[in-house]
Amino acid sequence: MENYLLELGNLLLRWLHVIAAIAWIGESIYFVMLDNSLSPPSIADARRGLHGEMFAVHGGGFYHNQKYLGQPPFPLDDKLHWSFWKSYATWLSGFGLFSLLYLFNASFYLVNSASPWAWAAALSGGQAAVIATAFLLGGWLAYDQLCRRISPDMNRDGPLSLAVALLMALVAYASSQIFQGRAAFLITGAVMATCMSANVLFWIIPGQRRMVRAIRAGEKPNPLDGLRGKQRSVHNTYFTLPVVFLMISNHYAFTYGNRHAWLIMVLFILSGALIRQYFVLRHSGHKRPLLPALGGLLLAGVGLLAAPPPPNIAPTAPQAAAPVATGSLAASTAQKTTDNLHQIHAIIQNRCLSCHSATPSQAGFVAPPAGLKFDDAQEILINAHRIKQAVASKYMPLANLTQMTQEEREILSAWGPAPSH
Ligand code: HEC
Repeated sequence: MENYLLELGNLLLRWLHVIAAIAWIGESIYFVMLDNSLSPPSIADARRGLHGEMFAVHGGGFYHNQKYLGQPPFPLDDKLHWSFWKSYATWLSGFGLFSLLYLFNASFYLVNSASPWAWAAALSGGQAAVIATAFLLGGWLAYDQLCRRISPDMNRDGPLSLAVALLMALVAYASSQIFQGRAAFLITGAVMATCMSANVLFWIIPGQRRMVRAIRAGEKPNPLDGLRGKQRSVHNTYFTLPVVFLMISNHYAFTYGNRHAWLIMVLFILSGALIRQYFVLRHSGHKRPLLPALGGLLLAGVGLLAAPPPPNIAPTAPQAAAPVATGSLAASTAQKTTDNLHQIHAIIQNRCLSCHSATPSQAGFVAPPAGLKFDDAQEILINAHRIKQAVASKYMPLANLTQMTQEEREILSAWGPAPSH
């Protein structure tokens, strides 16, 4: 029952998280597009303080948006629409999900017993959970300090972007060394997402509140508040694509299971930011922005870099077959393949079936995890590709609870099953 409740909680939180994120990111992309699509006002309108306007048709009606940087020529009534709950709901549901899945099961999902850093390999689950949480908090504090120190008046935003990119590369590298690959990708994404939400909570919204208060009191708002809100919201725009990539990468073992996982992560982050820039420039009227097209190229490059090595021939393949008659060669190949399959089957029986079975025997499992059960040879063959990837990347067996040996790993990784029919 308890496991069922955890599963149900997981599903509901994930649902909320995805919906809140769509609402938040959708609104944020909309406003960035709006900002970049504003056409200059007429001279008379500019005199009234109008900064720009956009005309749109949508949902069977026509819209006319106008942007004022300071005091608008109309009273700020209480109907002013604010955007913050979508952001907070996304962060809160995301952190809830992260706690449920990773922090509460840290010894399974966070601790990287194969870490090149001995102290990290020896962490307890509790310690790893504390360090993962510290990543989120520390990441935000470091990012915020960079913004405050490098470009406090928003006039050195170029060098600031570079510093922020380096910081995120550092987070990607360190998390990949300390945690399991999958968790490292998620944590790096969560660090960025925390910066995004904290930007809204600590800078964008308070700045806007100060502006509204000043205007209502008949004073001139401090332009730095507006500029700073804009700076942080531009950062959020460039974080968006990388964060969504990092959140979904969990389903793709070829990313986090790669030998150069941290580099793959950094290159994906960079291409996401460049691709976002492409759209930002397009909306600002650039016809053919060249630099951001590099984002697409880079993406293709990462695709190549992350490609798995070509499959090995099964170690039992009869290369050394002495001059034998063709007929008996075929027979012996068939024999060896069957032996190999027996061996594979036996390894999976010993190391995987306690969890991946229609009736798992491992405490805490009520159903085969990820819907994968390897009870019979057919099921193993159908999932051969995923099995090899999960084992080669050391993601499976989970936390190596079933103590798979390196030799068994190599046998499974080198297995070249015939395509199933
Ligand atoms: C202690 C329990 C346990 C053992 C033992 C175990 N697994 Fe898993 N396996 C899991 C869980 C839990 C998941 C789902 C994790 C997730 O949500 O990503 C999973 C997921 C998988 C996936 C899907 C991974 C993905 O990328 O989506 C594969 C493939 C897999 N296991 C293969 C294996 C193989 C092969 C073995 C044996 C060598 C094995 N597992 C042993 C618990 C186990």
